[in-house]
Amino acid sequence: MIRPELQRPTGTQDILAPQSWRFEKFRRIALDTAKAYGFDLIETPVFEQSAVFLKVGESTDIVQHERYAFTDVGGDDLTLRPEGTAAVARAYIQNGLYNEPKPLKVVYWGPMFRRERPQAERYRQHTQFGAELYGSEDPAADAEIILLACRVVERTGLKDPDVRINSIGCVDCRPAYRQALIEYYTERRAELCQDCQNRLEKNPLRLLDCKVDVVVRATAPDLSTFWCEACRTHIEAVTAAIGATGRAIRRDPFLVRGLDYYTRTVFEVGHPSLGPNTALFGGGRYDGLTGAMGGPESPAVGFGMGIERMLSALGTALTPDPQRGAYVANLPGFQTHAIAVAESLRGEGFAVDYDVMGRSLKAQLRDASRRAAVVVIIGGEEWERGVVEIKDFSSGEQQAIGRHDLGSYLRHHLERDSDGGTTA
Ligand code: HAM
Repeated sequence: MIRPELQRPTGTQDILAPQSWRFEKFRRIALDTAKAYGFDLIETPVFEQSAVFLKVGESTDIVQHERYAFTDVGGDDLTLRPEGTAAVARAYIQNGLYNEPKPLKVVYWGPMFRRERPQAERYRQHTQFGAELYGSEDPAADAEIILLACRVVERTGLKDPDVRINSIGCVDCRPAYRQALIEYYTERRAELCQDCQNRLEKNPLRLLDCKVDVVVRATAPDLSTFWCEACRTHIEAVTAAIGATGRAIRRDPFLVRGLDYYTRTVFEVGHPSLGPNTALFGGGRYDGLTGAMGGPESPAVGFGMGIERMLSALGTALTPDPQRGAYVANLPGFQTHAIAVAESLRGEGFAVDYDVMGRSLKAQLRDASRRAAVVVIIGGEEWERGVVEIKDFSSGEQQAIGRHDLGSYLRHHLERDSDGGTTA
């Protein structure tokens, strides 16, 4: 038992094997897929000056209520990143990436920090795989981002993601819609939940997001009737492009997303195994963010995918097969030789284990039968003759072979896996 003051913080997790390996496998699939889609990898610090995240929008929950902000001993006002987009936008400006040939396509992977109320699938530290595409206003860029996310979902083993899309309009058409919403909801204020009463003042579009006031919402003004021609054409082109690939996408008139920087396209993907408010990934277009940060105006679109949620929806998929290679056991007095043989075989790319507990040969063989496909026994007079004893656990076959033939024996008895290691 660990003392209460030493326990891990609420809403965080220790990720143990095999879950840790599933994370790793997911990461590899996600990054390989991104690379094949022409994305580069970017890594930014896990903390930034707080001003970076204030640009996400002061009325968003992650900025207003959920920020892990602190002043360090030097007096700097810092925030553990609650999301990646603002951090990547900062890096885009600071590193002059706007001078690179366009589009600039990057992905990132790493922990995000939000002081959420503890509940299922909402962690205070979660892992995101995210993608951002800079420099294009074209609907094809929105499609590219959504298609990458869908491909990663598919390659990791989830079938048919339910992709919902909406357009929240632009600076030209959104103000009129916002006004219409305020008028509609003000008349029905008494029927609203407390959250929505607050949203009405601060962020009326989020009223559509409410899962409580659905009756009021059902007859609220429809965003699509307020879209300007450019916004309408844009969402139609994104939807058509995705449709042309054979993937399903449907319009969700109530989808608005919780972050303030979006313009036009927003999208989100849920899963039946998760609650209705729990997305696997979400994102959208945010053409004004770099300008708001004092950099050049650069149209941009991206997504963030929650890896804990993806793995939860995937169940036991991505669980790696146990790595059953060779075990080098030793007779008393031959441990040093066993280490040397094991290391030499490892150098040839085999998965090899040996005893580090000083166990008897009998105990080593018991351990080996749990961990390995083949055991190699080293020592005694046989070793002096250049011979080792070998047992294959699956066939039960036992034989003595020349020490120098070990490599070729293992090559025939163990299959190399994709990592260059070996399995039975
Ligand atoms: P977000 O919707 O806030 O968007 O987060 C993206 C994804 O991260 C969510 O769909 C969810 O899967 C996961 N996620 C968020 N919070 C938690 C949590 N507390 N616990 C577990 N998983 C969580 C963004 O962060 C934007 N930066 C996405 C984006 C990129 N938009 C444009 N570019």
